[in-house]
Amino acid sequence: VTDVPEVRIVRAGPERIPDLEPLFGVLHEHQVRSAPRLTDFEARAADEAWQRRRSKYEKWLAEPGAFVLFAETSMRAVGFALVSIGTGYDGWYSPERIGDVHDLAVLPDARGRGVGTMLMDAVEDELRAGGVSHCRLRVIARNTDAIQFYERRGMSRVSTIFLQRIDRTSEGETP
Ligand SMILES: CC(C)(COP(=O)(O)OP(=O)(O)OC[C@H]1O[C@@H](n2cnc3c(N)ncnc32)[C@H](O)[C@@H]1OP(=O)(O)O)[C@@H](O)C(=O)NCCC(=O)NCCS
Repeated sequence: VTDVPEVRIVRAGPERIPDLEPLFGVLHEHQVRSAPRLTDFEARAADEAWQRRRSKYEKWLAEPGAFVLFAETSMRAVGFALVSIGTGYDGWYSPERIGDVHDLAVLPDARGRGVGTMLMDAVEDELRAGGVSHCRLRVIARNTDAIQFYERRGMSRVSTIFLQRIDRTSEGETP
């Protein structure tokens, strides 16, 4: 009883970046629905957001140890996770390399059926196979369902990002 039959996880490199566009699209849509604004930043249109994110994917996937995982049925890709290797913490006895999960998403009609769990489990397997012992990710504070998903996986919340506009001059005043 699942609408997501025979999902398999496939590791890929930069050659498959074009296939990420619709998957990034649902991630962007979910994120801007969770947070239509980040402080005074309005959401970018999907196309513009994709152009920018694609450049980041190209940069990350050119780095050693980076990878993208697709969750696929025989018909279509239903989810992805994109990972590169980041640096550890200086103030704690951390390993030098930590797996940074930059983006993770599952198509809306495939959510809640274990695909996200399969992807994160596979991310962990790939990282471990490369000698990396920890993974890390950032979540928009208002994306509460994703936060719940990561907490249920046993991930620890270790930092919080603050953002504030600092160049505002008071109304009518010439800077
Ligand atoms: C967050 C996200 C990736 C999780 O993927 P998913 O496929 O929905 O995740 P799962 O199905 O593995 O788990 C989701 C829930 O379904 C439940 N579930 C897991 N396997 C299941 C199964 N076989 N049948 C029914 N339910 C199941 C889990 O209990 C889980 O509940 P929880 O989140 O309350 O712990 C997905 O919801 C998503 O793409 N969200 C929008 C984009 C987003 O926010 N991405 C993260 C940005 S940081």
